[in-house]
Amino acid sequence: MPSDSPFASAESYYAEHRPRYGDRPILHLVDRFDLGERSRALDLGCGAGQIAVPLAAHVGEVVGMDPNERMIDEAREQARTAGASNVEWLVGSDADLRGAVGEELAPLSVTTMGRSFHWMDRGPTLDRIHDLTEPGGGVAVFGDTEWLTSGRRAWQDEVYDLATEYLDDLPERTGPRTEPYENPYDEMLADHGFEDVEVATFEETREWTVDGVVGYVFSLSFCSPATFGEQADAFETDLRERLEELGCHFEQDDEVRVISGRKSR
Ligand SMILES: C[S@@+](CC[C@H](N)C(=O)[O-])C[C@H]1O[C@@H](n2cnc3c(N)ncnc32)[C@H](O)[C@@H]1O
Repeated sequence: MPSDSPFASAESYYAEHRPRYGDRPILHLVDRFDLGERSRALDLGCGAGQIAVPLAAHVGEVVGMDPNERMIDEAREQARTAGASNVEWLVGSDADLRGAVGEELAPLSVTTMGRSFHWMDRGPTLDRIHDLTEPGGGVAVFGDTEWLTSGRRAWQDEVYDLATEYLDDLPERTGPRTEPYENPYDEMLADHGFEDVEVATFEETREWTVDGVVGYVFSLSFCSPATFGEQADAFETDLRERLEELGCHFEQDDEVRVISGRKSR
């Protein structure tokens, strides 16, 4: 396990409790890039396979790539459970993609980056993806509402407030934002050679249980068990107590965004 991974200790929580994106964003991608048996997809920063595994049912081959080896182990297990045998898993980062590994993956029909692009050296990575993509293929950045800092429900305020009692450097609670991360990725895609850039949004309402909320919080890089250190158990006990006082089921409004662009034919 790379101890310098921001997700060290969060991996199993990530695999079990981070929401998948649902069918609609995946089918959007299949339709937009005319994906099929002859297509090869790269999922960069694949984590526990939240995109790679469902996408595998629609293409010939997926390569899931992530620098965190334990995330790759979780992804492999998710693929095995789903019966997805056409996924190859690689330990590597955006820097590796810009090296020799990239050549071996070309030509790519589509590259996805789900909740991972903000960790990368984004401009050079987009240039590299553009080079490795077949004409007419593309790139897609997936994101959704990270509810601990961006949600607006009262139960989410409670979870955030408790976390601030334990952690000094929690990101600010911003409320809903218009961009999934701070950079306008649609403009960035256009600046790096992609055409026909499009932002597709998919609204979802999710239901959370107490176990799900605890697992979600520990799946975040800035709230992982390692971040809490020796206080992780105490935080979990307090969190469960507060949640049980509020009820057993919690609703979350989510918006999944797929920002995609095409390489000219
Ligand atoms: C929040 S998870 C996203 C996982 C999954 N793609 C999803 O959509 O849920 C972010 C992932 O990005 C990976 N990551 C961090 N730095 C990276 C880099 N420089 N290049 C590629 N992936 C990176 C992390 O290891 C982590 O698994």
